[in-house]
Amino acid sequence: MRVSIFGTGYVGLVTGTCLAEVGHDVVCVDVDAGKVERLHQGIIPIYEPGLEPMVKANHAAGRLDFTTDAARAVAHGEVVFIAVGTPPDEDGSADLQYVLQVARTIGEHLQAPTIVVDKSTVPVGTADRVRATIAEVLAARGADIAFDVVSNPEFLKEGAAVEDCMRPDRIVLGVDDPRAAEKLKRLYAPFNRNHDRFVVMDVRSAELTKYAANAMLATKISFMNEIANIAEKVGADVEMVRKGIGSDPRIGWHFIYPGAGYGGSCFPKDVQALARTAQQVGHQPLLLDAVEAVNERQKGHLHELVTRHYGDGGISGKTFAVWGLAFKPDTDDMREASSRRLLAQLWESGARVRAYDPEAADEARRIFGDRDDLVLCASAADALDGADALVVVTEWKQFRSADLAQVRAKLGDAVVFDGRNIYRPEDAEDAGLAYYGIGRGRSVRAH
Ligand code: UDX
Repeated sequence: MRVSIFGTGYVGLVTGTCLAEVGHDVVCVDVDAGKVERLHQGIIPIYEPGLEPMVKANHAAGRLDFTTDAARAVAHGEVVFIAVGTPPDEDGSADLQYVLQVARTIGEHLQAPTIVVDKSTVPVGTADRVRATIAEVLAARGADIAFDVVSNPEFLKEGAAVEDCMRPDRIVLGVDDPRAAEKLKRLYAPFNRNHDRFVVMDVRSAELTKYAANAMLATKISFMNEIANIAEKVGADVEMVRKGIGSDPRIGWHFIYPGAGYGGSCFPKDVQALARTAQQVGHQPLLLDAVEAVNERQKGHLHELVTRHYGDGGISGKTFAVWGLAFKPDTDDMREASSRRLLAQLWESGARVRAYDPEAADEARRIFGDRDDLVLCASAADALDGADALVVVTEWKQFRSADLAQVRAKLGDAVVFDGRNIYRPEDAEDAGLAYYGIGRGRSVRAH
């Protein structure tokens, strides 16, 4: 099938590449000529396991092309995806300017009946706006061309996006016309393994499904962070509590890890946007607001532990080794990352930072620029050199296997703040380190 995709960001590039991988003829279009040129050379703008070789192979095979030529892309696609960004507006609602700009572009160039697919995460009602925008431009052209607008949200996790795209657990199709669903089922047939993964519904329900999924997951995390904070105060260990509740299949093991708060391009933005939608339709989103508030507070929790440990002496002049800057492992993405809050707070308190992240150093350089109080280090061990304390913010695998005795030997103040609970308090304490985790009241009480 001939497919075009507007937007070569995270979602667009992964979706386009996976569709090419299963044999479709894909053209990805982007307004950024530099990015398109780099993609032609096989240079991928993001770090995502497995993506680069797949882009190169499909590009070489002629199934995946990149262009800035929107007219060509619209003419090419029987199915045209909108996969551009929906950044938060000032009030937290999703900014639809890029989505609607693509809708206008589609309207300007449409020549034959086409299915337009909203892949971007967009508020309920956006498909109607996309449809109206395209219709308006077509009417201005005096053109009478049939088109459908379908909502087909993505559920890709950064770091596992290729795998999630190739082996989805569900494929949600929000359609007005069953014929559009049939066509998209053919498009996605290669991904529909073992049993039927299609969930066909109306457009608005599909739009809401995406927000509901992310808000539910964010709720689980904030819930566990709330329990962690209670555990800390009552002298319990949330890691034990987590093990104690996860085996109940109604609760489950996933997304009940307490930590330094959730970040990334989806949860913070989507929880806020859903809350704004609720308000706009006259519903007070009590739970969603709490989920967000708990997360905001949680992002400051590591700094609170640091301040608690150092007490009246403060941390001015201290040097902190920070392990992990990305919002989670296996990505270089620092959007809404908890590390950003921590670093800002450490700097505000007059401390210096030696940071190491296996992938996000370039991104950190771009965000923070040159600063006297930040050294981006080449290795985890390097970050410890001359540091007084260690803070773990992202749970990259390599940090889990750290030799805590060596960590102890390098740190001036022999203290570790474990923002993802990757160490056992007793191991850290055996190595001679003061240990602070998230929600580990037992160890916090000991110091
Ligand atoms: C998420 C959804 O999982 C995905 O389905 C959707 O399409 C996009 O948003 P992503 O943002 O890539 O994906 O990352 P995810 O693995 O879900 O983690 C999000 C954040 O939550 C990270 O900061 C992570 O550290 C945090 N998290 C996750 C926790 O703090 N505890 C947990 O138990 C799980």
